[in-house]
Amino acid sequence: MSEPNDSTDDGDRRAFITKATVGVSVACSVFPFAAGVPAFLDPVSGNGDGDAGEIPWSKVASFSALPEDGTPTRFGIVRERVTDAWSTLTNVPVGAVYIVKQGDQVKAFNLKCPHLGCAIDHRSDQGDFFCPCHNSSFAFDGSVSNPASPSPRGMDGLETKIENGFVYVRFQQFRPNLAEKVPLI
Ligand code: FES
Repeated sequence: MSEPNDSTDDGDRRAFITKATVGVSVACSVFPFAAGVPAFLDPVSGNGDGDAGEIPWSKVASFSALPEDGTPTRFGIVRERVTDAWSTLTNVPVGAVYIVKQGDQVKAFNLKCPHLGCAIDHRSDQGDFFCPCHNSSFAFDGSVSNPASPSPRGMDGLETKIENGFVYVRFQQFRPNLAEKVPLI
């Protein structure tokens, strides 16, 4: 005597198992891609050295080599390691700073003009900083020295430290043309 209900049950079970297997396979293949979407859309995120949320210290100069009279000195900033979604690069130039010695302390300023991002010059004959793009000028403490300057804020100061005779800077970029300093990353 045949048992039609059993064969129907077997068919249903096989169909269910097939569907479940396909579902799991699709989920496994899609999930890794979905996890990588944010990195794909914003490959160079974080601070550029792969440690999210932490701005690395960059070694800039020997403290004793800086001019005692407070004359600003320009230095390039090179990151030892920059990691994005696809690769890790070493010794990458990321910007430049002016360092000003003040007694046993230093001040550091991003070389980029806070107006629209041109490179700021140091005018030794005028004793100031000057941006040639739209004629903003700044004192050696970074403040806007000429009220006619279009820059909406002073030069962007950076965090510094002196360790074992060397000056270190936490290099950052900021949004241009705003009155307040807003970090870009
Ligand atoms: S970019 Fe410097 S004054 Fe405009």
